[in-house]
Amino acid sequence: MTDLNPQAKQMADESMVRNLAAQARAIWPQEAPLIRRYALPAEPRILDAGCGTGEGASRLAVLFPQARVLGVDIIDEHLELARSRYASLASRLTFDHRSVYALAAADLSYDLTVCRHVIHSIPYPDRVVAELVRVTRSGGYLHIIAEDYGMLHFQRGALDPRDFWHLAPASFGAATGTDLFIGRNIFGILAAMKLEQIRVDYVVVDTLRVPRETFAAILEAWRDGYVEPIGELTPITRQSALAYFDQMIASVRDPYQYAVWMVPVASARVPSGAD
Ligand SMILES: C[S@@+](CC[C@H](N)C(=O)[O-])C[C@H]1O[C@@H](n2cnc3c(N)ncnc32)[C@H](O)[C@@H]1O
Repeated sequence: MTDLNPQAKQMADESMVRNLAAQARAIWPQEAPLIRRYALPAEPRILDAGCGTGEGASRLAVLFPQARVLGVDIIDEHLELARSRYASLASRLTFDHRSVYALAAADLSYDLTVCRHVIHSIPYPDRVVAELVRVTRSGGYLHIIAEDYGMLHFQRGALDPRDFWHLAPASFGAATGTDLFIGRNIFGILAAMKLEQIRVDYVVVDTLRVPRETFAAILEAWRDGYVEPIGELTPITRQSALAYFDQMIASVRDPYQYAVWMVPVASARVPSGAD
């Protein structure tokens, strides 16, 4: 149960390493100001749950120079890469093999618990959020990037990308027991847990705010990692998925076209007395 990761193959692929780097380049400039709003102590303890290659954890360590940051994941290759990439921060930034379903941290340990781009890809996101709350101290904050594959929009060409985004995520989610529309459902999960100061903000990855090549790199990495399983798990064939991605990538690179990915960023405060 604790190692549930139905996208384990895609998560461990080299295309995912590229994707996480491109996503961080696209998203962090708008995400960092959201994180700065949290009222954190001078030397915050921060957890990055499902840290991957450490893109978020390392940026958190730089953003808060007095912080101690722990990144956890279940893919050892990602953890190794993170340790070697960010060795210069090792006195304050560590990486450990732990599952987000069972964080093995003492209750109420963290001032800020971050979980970026994870809960859309694994089953029982509500259990993960409960675990994140358990390890966050009273008055501490949760910060969750909850992807939603109904929030991508591209102009139509020979193909209509609306058809792809209507069909692919719904059937991929059904086949893997995951909610690829968790962005619109995360508010309800946080509200049911009686958390305070619940917000859903948006990072706007579009062709005006983000360099086109960065946006294109995200789509290329998705294409390279996902056309195979889309062909296996959804009514869309591998060939057709490839054609949709290639058209969307060309559209993002076309200076006369506009495309947007709205990325929900949910946050909440753990009330005093939750312990
Ligand atoms: C799309 S990546 C996001 C990585 C990182 N948070 C970032 O923003 O760059 C999702 C990560 O969640 C991890 N993951 C999946 N299931 C997990 C589990 N049960 N426990 C811990 N990590 C998990 C995957 O191994 C992968 O590294």
